[in-house]
Amino acid sequence: MSVSVPFEIIRDPAAMRARAEDLRRDGKVIAVVPTMGALHEGHLSLIRLARARADVVILTIFVNPTQFGPNEDLSRYPRDEAGDLARARPCGVDLAFCPDAAAMYPAGAQTFVEVRELAQPLCGASRPGHFAGVATIVTKLFHLTRPHLAVFGEKDYQQLAIIRRMVRDLDFGIEIVGGPIVREPDGIAMSSRNAYLSAAERVTARALSAGLAAAQAAFAAGERDAAALVALAKAPILAAPGTRIDYVELRDADALTPIERVARPAVLAMAVFVGTTRLLDNRVFTP
Ligand code: PAF
Repeated sequence: MSVSVPFEIIRDPAAMRARAEDLRRDGKVIAVVPTMGALHEGHLSLIRLARARADVVILTIFVNPTQFGPNEDLSRYPRDEAGDLARARPCGVDLAFCPDAAAMYPAGAQTFVEVRELAQPLCGASRPGHFAGVATIVTKLFHLTRPHLAVFGEKDYQQLAIIRRMVRDLDFGIEIVGGPIVREPDGIAMSSRNAYLSAAERVTARALSAGLAAAQAAFAAGERDAAALVALAKAPILAAPGTRIDYVELRDADALTPIERVARPAVLAMAVFVGTTRLLDNRVFTP
């Protein structure tokens, strides 16, 4: 699809909504790519997916305070708006929505969106309130950008499942598109948080994708027992110094419920601390 509007940056939520309404009135198909900035090749691949599907691509950059716990990395989360826009624009972004926190959460705001069961396990267990923060900000971004479709990365597998569920449950009428995980040449999943890793930790972090690859190889050879696949995925992580497993679990790919054997699509999902940096990775196994 053609780039149809001159590039602009909007910071005011009301102005964003008015602009989106105009675009809709003009019959434009709008895609939104919500991000917290610190863009890497994974994000750029999402923008390219959006570009292929829409007349107008809106990139949102907002480090959302409500999805960070009190002891998490909100204040040190990497921020580089100028660099992000320089990387994103050649990929086909038409409009960047970059509000500040006070504009998105005016004093007195007290409404949260909560997706229940899907938000309980995995990251939800170790980051209470995180997914309510995500669902709430994504709802607000959808209301302000009025997209026909929205693109999210599959690296945040549980987040994507929750957003899909929310969109179905609350009749948003927005198509949710998942973008495949983009990996570094050594297998590490791209993540804004990789920037926190020292050179040595960067090498250690290979244990996550190595574990997933070991489990994948066993699955391809016919292993279907969940405990055996999880043990294979954990082995390289347990052997790597300076790592701490938050979780490594094999669950139903849609409902995220625990499974004992892989009889239908399942996701092997992990969150692992490398030093103080918590990294996510996953792989879907389809029998
Ligand atoms: O995946 C992210 O970067 C964030 O969780 C999101 C979806 C932009 C909401 O703040």
